[in-house]
Amino acid sequence: MDEIRELIQAAAATARKETSEEPEPAFTGSVAYPVDCSVDRGLAGAIAADTKIGYVNGSKGWLIYRGYDVFDLSEHSTFEETSFLLLNGHLPTSAELAAFEEKLRSYSQLPPSVIQVLREMPINETHPMSALRTAVSFLGNWDPTADTTTVEAETEVAIRLIAQIPLLVGAIARLRHGKDPVDPKPNHTLAQGLLYAMNGEEPDAKTARVMDVALILHADHGMNASTFTTMVVNSSLSDMYGSIVAGIASLKGPLHGGANEQVLYTLEEIGNPDNVEAWFTKAREQKRKVMGFGHRVYKAYDPRARILGPLAAKLTSADPEMKALYETAIRLEKAVTEGLGTEKKIFPNVDFYSGIVYRAMGIETAIFTPIFAASRISGWTARALEYLGDNRIFRPRAVYTGPTSVDYVPMSER
Ligand code: SDX
Repeated sequence: MDEIRELIQAAAATARKETSEEPEPAFTGSVAYPVDCSVDRGLAGAIAADTKIGYVNGSKGWLIYRGYDVFDLSEHSTFEETSFLLLNGHLPTSAELAAFEEKLRSYSQLPPSVIQVLREMPINETHPMSALRTAVSFLGNWDPTADTTTVEAETEVAIRLIAQIPLLVGAIARLRHGKDPVDPKPNHTLAQGLLYAMNGEEPDAKTARVMDVALILHADHGMNASTFTTMVVNSSLSDMYGSIVAGIASLKGPLHGGANEQVLYTLEEIGNPDNVEAWFTKAREQKRKVMGFGHRVYKAYDPRARILGPLAAKLTSADPEMKALYETAIRLEKAVTEGLGTEKKIFPNVDFYSGIVYRAMGIETAIFTPIFAASRISGWTARALEYLGDNRIFRPRAVYTGPTSVDYVPMSER
């Protein structure tokens, strides 16, 4: 896998060079409550919790999990190891990793009834994220520990879901096309297992490594909407399955994880590289958001896109149709960053190139966001568990701007 390693090293070197002049991170210490900061619409600028799990430095374009640079993790780690790191706070010893992988394997069977539930819904007309949300909710009904809201019990649910969400994604991908789910293989890694669950074929080593890197890159990302949603639900001492169901629902939206799917539709709508500039001019006139661009926190290039972009280039180079798709994306990146980037600091985000990577692996567009969920489950659960350790129910306030002394008007007088 030397070529993937070299590609990640080159992306990391560019990132470090380009951002070396940027100021040091503003927020790394513990927060002294009450926090005195301005809060904009969409809670922009609000601080919701202390965390040791991960850090996004938007001005430098850094992404750090538990102190480790995501470039280093994607070069050296595996999704299993990264998930352990997020959940436990340290890289595992070989014995710890073996025990974690053994536990994941022990959970790698789905109850047959969950497949039955998927079969009974109009699966080819249901968005895979909606199917996944229902399936995870149903899994909770089969777990007698689901309502035990201790850190220990919920950690076990977290590991179970890290093992089972890839299997659910694979089953949904197959059932949509009238194919039966396949039985998982005990020797597979999570990345191999996800690919096998979708395709029913043994993945080659390169494809499995690319998927592993994609899963590492998507595993955690600060207080994003779906993570915050998961934490809010969990903070009422609801149950982890319900919290994750809410996280999946949040991730589905096109302003969040659902953007990876929309990017492909955009590229298909544009049609070929030569149409990009005209398409973009019209999109600006119509004030359309260009999917896969912009970010609440990054005002620099998203480090995940620095890896996924070159990966997309590599994976599409041999196929003329895929190459044209990639070239359309590159032209669109140029148009958007030159048209909006300098003024509004808008760059590609994680969702811009991930879909091209998945498409090059033969994965259908509607499954892109479920793959995001199969990775983000680690970050969702790690953060919900960290917060549960020192829980206080989330309960912000709204500024009331309506009237206060309106007299009740009887129905006959309205
Ligand atoms: C993810 O939060 C996370 O960390 C999320 C994520 C993760 O790992 O969890 O990184 C994953 O969700 C990535 C984002 C995927 N979404 C998209 O690609 C959809 C397109 N992008 C946007 O709609 C937008 O950039 C957001 C939703 C990502 C961020 O929204 P904000 O912070 O509320 O920013 P905004 O919409 O208020 O934009 C600020 C300005 C606006 O212009 P003005 O009104 O100030 O003149 O930038 C413009 C926007 O119009 N702008 C865009 C744009 N994104 C921002 N203009 C055109 N196309 C875009 N994509």
